[in-house]
Amino acid sequence: MPGLTLGDAVPNLEVETTHGKMKLHDYFSGSWTVLFSHPGDFTPVCTTELAKMASYSNEFEKRCVKLLGLSCDDISSHKEWTKDVEAFAGDARVTYPIIADPNREILKELNMIDADEKDSSGRHMPSRALHIVGPDKTIKLSFLYPACTGRNMEEVLRVLDSLQRACKHKIATPVNWKLGEPVVVSPSVDNEQAKELFPQGFKTVDLPSKKGYLRFTNVD
Ligand code: BEZ
Repeated sequence: MPGLTLGDAVPNLEVETTHGKMKLHDYFSGSWTVLFSHPGDFTPVCTTELAKMASYSNEFEKRCVKLLGLSCDDISSHKEWTKDVEAFAGDARVTYPIIADPNREILKELNMIDADEKDSSGRHMPSRALHIVGPDKTIKLSFLYPACTGRNMEEVLRVLDSLQRACKHKIATPVNWKLGEPVVVSPSVDNEQAKELFPQGFKTVDLPSKKGYLRFTNVD
């Protein structure tokens, strides 16, 4: 399905949320945002996902990241459902807004539809899509999961850590990277530049090709 993808600006839609009406760009306003959709209110996997997002709220705050949920039910349903989510989450509260999209218009604009999942009246359902939107309001990363598979919120934090560092330094993060582990120097940086950019030093891995492209360093 064509639609919003990496590098695209998120359209400045006016949306109705559990926190009132808002324009998406006003909400994003210069910070990172995790925009995530759900197949429906009062469904089991979605309830666990929203609860986990709520219980990680201090982890998102630490990274200056806002959350914005979306499900195609209406606001009164979202508000009722939130009580269940909070009961399941324990002490955590759902402090982030949830968009209502009963007409499925926003879903289409944001490329969050599940082509395989339909409700009882044959209408398309949202997928478990998740867009990480940068401070410049463009899509930096997207996940697209089917209804049967809940997302891993630890992975959401991990990729945020990667994206935020790659935005600040000329680095990329290698396989299974976690915060605090070495990163790799971006291939666009030659060794002379790397000495200036990484005064802490970098180590080049000796590989059969002798091309010297795998260089590890450390950044905060
Ligand atoms: C769920 O959130 O549990 C769910 C929603 C739609 C289809 C299957 C599972």
